[in-house]
Amino acid sequence: MQETDFLEPNNITLNKVGMRDKFIIEGRHKLKGEIDIWGSKNASLPIMAASLLNSGDLILDNVPPVKDNLTMAEILRYLGLSVEFLEGDKVLIKGEPKGYRAPYELVSRMRASFELMGPLLAYFGEAEIPYPGGCRIGLRPVDLHIKGFESLGAEITVDKGFVCARAKKGLKGAKIHLDKPSVGATRNIMMAAVLAQGETIIENAACEPEVVDLGNFLKSMGAEIEGLGTSTIYIKGKKELQPIDYYKIIPDRIAAGTFIIAGIMIGKDLVIKNIEPEHLQSLFIKLKEAGVNSLQIRDREVRVKGEKVWKGIEVTTMPYPGFPTDLQPQMMVFLSLAQGTSLIVETVFENRFLHVGELLRLGAKISIDGRTALIQGVEKLKGAPVEATDLRAGAALVLAGLVAEGVTEVLDVDEHIDRGYVALEEKLSTLGANVKRVSYEEGKKVSDLSL
Ligand code: UD1
Repeated sequence: MQETDFLEPNNITLNKVGMRDKFIIEGRHKLKGEIDIWGSKNASLPIMAASLLNSGDLILDNVPPVKDNLTMAEILRYLGLSVEFLEGDKVLIKGEPKGYRAPYELVSRMRASFELMGPLLAYFGEAEIPYPGGCRIGLRPVDLHIKGFESLGAEITVDKGFVCARAKKGLKGAKIHLDKPSVGATRNIMMAAVLAQGETIIENAACEPEVVDLGNFLKSMGAEIEGLGTSTIYIKGKKELQPIDYYKIIPDRIAAGTFIIAGIMIGKDLVIKNIEPEHLQSLFIKLKEAGVNSLQIRDREVRVKGEKVWKGIEVTTMPYPGFPTDLQPQMMVFLSLAQGTSLIVETVFENRFLHVGELLRLGAKISIDGRTALIQGVEKLKGAPVEATDLRAGAALVLAGLVAEGVTEVLDVDEHIDRGYVALEEKLSTLGANVKRVSYEEGKKVSDLSL
């Protein structure tokens, strides 16, 4: 990572070339107190992209300064906007886009940047975005995005690694059936269709709250969209949208779920605030099935008391309102400590069990057969050095470290966990955990600390 990678001054510590961050966690410290959950990263990203369609000054509220959002801000700046992170998780976005080609160096950091294609195509009638590569949790193709844009009349070519979309005469509304309810494809098509001529119908659309939030943002600019949160979305294209000056993003349900699971395993009395309980129903149902009865769910918060025992269950990840794949690794840590056997079936991504190898190092008993993990509950986990392999796997390893006996080192925090969690070590320390962030030389993976 280059020292100049992230230009934002706030909250994020820059690393020198060849340096990485790790967390050193001394386990078994009880969590108590209150934690405010920040805004949804997965809603902020497409809404920042959609701000290309707004004119005038816009304040987006509840945008956490996580690395992915900083990357999106940098891409928007590259495209000609002014983007400034303000106090209190607000972002001020000004100006009009001047270019429609996004740079590989920035896009390659984050797949969600492909969602700039929809708004750029709507605005300029053309867009050029580097083909996003695969990532560790799966191949993650963009064929559904591309088919959607083609249905809207765009001509798509791939040139020197860039996906180039052109619709010089404008986009035309169409009926689009997604083979899978892809979150990204639904959002990308939606952003293009709001300025297309005529009506677009997206069938088998994703119903995730982050899709609904983007839809509501577009609606607040005057876009005509119906069916948000259902599998059929209707969009009546408009000639232009109206400028808005403020929009507040929904809370991050995955961050909330991460703290809820932590609280059950190692909490004394933890209040998780600023959440949307409706978005966490599938988690609440599974926790109840495992025998967790102490959650007190209120209007915008949940009170978690630590549990001593819980039992093994079966969990299958599914598109919303099913159990979120982004909470699967955290749930696996929880089930590793359950009484009896559990099954986790991962149906969304083909390779999202990379954390299993690391959990084995901590003493978990897990075997994998294709997309199914069989988890034999153990009495305790024991600290060890482990590597964050992706964002949510990293969060899961932190949870494991919090509950494990002894010291756990979680490596590559800056590359993965910082993408989606704001200063996680500070938040956990405020709640009573013993977590330190330490820099280390890349290649020298384990510190000299005796574990
Ligand atoms: C979004 C979330 C991610 C979450 C995922 C599923 C953001 C920034 N990221 O990712 O955290 O884990 O939803 O809830 O919001 N697929 C195709 N072709 C496509 C597009 C997707 O085959 O053109 C496949 C993917 O490989 C995957 C499945 O569809 O197997 C779901 O992916 P998708 O819903 O698109 O996830 P993302 O939008 O990338």
